[in-house]
Amino acid sequence: MFDLIEKAAADLASAKNVVALTGAGISVESGIPPFRGKGGIWEKIDPMEYAHIDSFLQDPEKVWRVLIKGMKDVIDQARPNAAHLGLARLEALGILKTVITQNVDGLHQDAGNTDVIEFHGNFAWQKCMDCSRRYATRSVDMSRLPPRCRCGGILRPECVFFGEPIPTHHLYRSQDAAEHCDVMLVIGTSAWVQPAASIPLISKQSGARVIEINPEPTPLTHHISDYLIKGPAGEVTHRIMEKLAKLR
Ligand code: OAD
Repeated sequence: MFDLIEKAAADLASAKNVVALTGAGISVESGIPPFRGKGGIWEKIDPMEYAHIDSFLQDPEKVWRVLIKGMKDVIDQARPNAAHLGLARLEALGILKTVITQNVDGLHQDAGNTDVIEFHGNFAWQKCMDCSRRYATRSVDMSRLPPRCRCGGILRPECVFFGEPIPTHHLYRSQDAAEHCDVMLVIGTSAWVQPAASIPLISKQSGARVIEINPEPTPLTHHISDYLIKGPAGEVTHRIMEKLAKLR
């Protein structure tokens, strides 16, 4: 692991355009559980029953009660960890250009990253399904579920449910960023969910080096990623940043 940390620091030090693709694992050390694997949300509830747009349309009260309200409580408590802060520092150093995240927790922006493509939306906002009026999630009264707009319509998070397309501008911007980077950092994603899981392939085919940080191997490991640094995102990123500081 130590060799790989030095290698990653050297790769980042010589890179001109780094892009990060992040998933739920980067926020685990901030107290937000992942979806898959140990302690994952989808171990407890079936995503097709609670996170598919058809399930939401059929029974919004159930999805709000079981999934969405709980997410709000967890995200409210979360603060950026060493991995988010490391990526913000990489941007400040002029090395990292864009973060593409599958997360809806807003922690990359809280850490200080300014170009964040929120591939699956952002939980900070709710939208009326009838009139499209938007509300900050923190201002929404959740004493009665589902919460409603002043027009009476049901509110939904501005997040992508299964069965919904990725907003086209997010998809295109992500593809463009992936195509033009020279190093892609893939942090804390199981790489099971498409189309996000294909983004590292675009970088690889364009000649970029792909570095994974994850305690577990993924379908990208040994196929698309050049190397995997096994470990928790916060700890690994912190060590890479320490090494990088000595190289600059
Ligand atoms: P997953 O929950 O599928 O995968 C989390 C990954 O994080 C796994 O590969 C873990 O090994 C890894 N992991 C766990 N702890 C970690 C740590 N401390 N540091 C680094 N990595 C760690 O999350 P995503 O790949 O983000 O979509 O899931 C993709 C999408 O599936 C989500 O955006 C969500 C979900 O269903 C929608 O809801 C549309």
